[in-house]
Amino acid sequence: MKIFSLFCKKKKPYAPFSQQKRYFCGMNASFSTRLEQWYEVSGRDLPWRNTADPYLILLSEFILQQTRVNQGLAYYLRIVQRFPTAESLASAREEEVLRLWQGLGYYSRARHLHAAAQRIAEAGTFPADYRFVRALPGVGDYTAAAIMSFAFGQPYAVLDGNVMRILARHFGITSPIDTTSGKNHLRALADELLDRHHPALYNQAIMDFGAIQCTPSAPLCHNCPLCDTCHAFAEHSVEKLPVKSKRTAVRDRYLTYIYTRTRDGLTLLHRRGSGDIWQGLFEFPLIESVNKLTSKQVDEFIHSSLVKVNVKVKLELVASDIHHQLTHQRLHADLYLLELNLSLSDETEEGLPFLSLGEGREGSWVKESEIDNYALPRLLEKLLEKLHSTAKQNK
Ligand code: ADE
Repeated sequence: MKIFSLFCKKKKPYAPFSQQKRYFCGMNASFSTRLEQWYEVSGRDLPWRNTADPYLILLSEFILQQTRVNQGLAYYLRIVQRFPTAESLASAREEEVLRLWQGLGYYSRARHLHAAAQRIAEAGTFPADYRFVRALPGVGDYTAAAIMSFAFGQPYAVLDGNVMRILARHFGITSPIDTTSGKNHLRALADELLDRHHPALYNQAIMDFGAIQCTPSAPLCHNCPLCDTCHAFAEHSVEKLPVKSKRTAVRDRYLTYIYTRTRDGLTLLHRRGSGDIWQGLFEFPLIESVNKLTSKQVDEFIHSSLVKVNVKVKLELVASDIHHQLTHQRLHADLYLLELNLSLSDETEEGLPFLSLGEGREGSWVKESEIDNYALPRLLEKLLEKLHSTAKQNK
């Protein structure tokens, strides 16, 4: 399969680690050299690693900010095909960018990517300048270091959760990684360990080492090229490191969506505003509550919100308690199908009756057959899948 083959490096066979040459040139040199050796054998061959085009590298890093490689790969290939240059992306409409991003979540990344492409296009060529790159929307220390090293071969060390985990374990660092002092400690160490002659190779190696070998749970310690100098391995404290000082509170939100359907196949969509999750994406009319709503409560809401109550034909629960996890929020969603006895031809001077979406929240009637043209959050896609599977069962 094409995508799978991208992961398979065509490499010369290596000797088993036990027979490989050992380096005794100081702990730090040994760390980077062994990491790079491991990468030569076990690293993944990914499309953004076979290019020095800073735009393509930036694109891949935006995708991978909150997404696993397996999932991000198809998006990368699709977006590169549609927008092969920063200029082509810069001149696209935001809706198209969001549409291509659909399913990846954390849509602020897509908006930042779009804005970053516009700055790069304005600059003419992509400047090999750390300050320019770091100042791009959506680019933090990690992404800037990745771009500078991969595209321009400049000596910036990447430091993210994966790298912190590797360093905390290997060097037995117990300062909490979510504190400034803990981060500063690890930052200094990361800069010291960087292979300044091969920053791209080193950074790629440590990224893959965190993803494949020194994983958060069940790391492959018994087949690890660094285990003989790993503090956590020697002290049986691999599971205890890295240390975090606090747990982040997770908030529950209850979302009841109403999927409306007219006789001639129209449904109501609303575009989300700013200041909350999913900015700029589309959704069905929504009731948000502190607890799960009963069908009776939803029915009452519909009666009080519909301009003409007598057009309601049927209200049916089609999906219940669908969960969706965001970083600090646990979403619980229900979906109701509301069938209306009206069609576009019944339109009055004021337009079709609509569900009141609350202050300043406008909805538009769109053809159900054209929903795919709108960028929906992943949760809404899951709800739509439920709606379609229920419809099939009822046939
Ligand atoms: N995660 C973040 N950046 C990455 C990259 N360039 N390759 C693989 N995984 C990554």
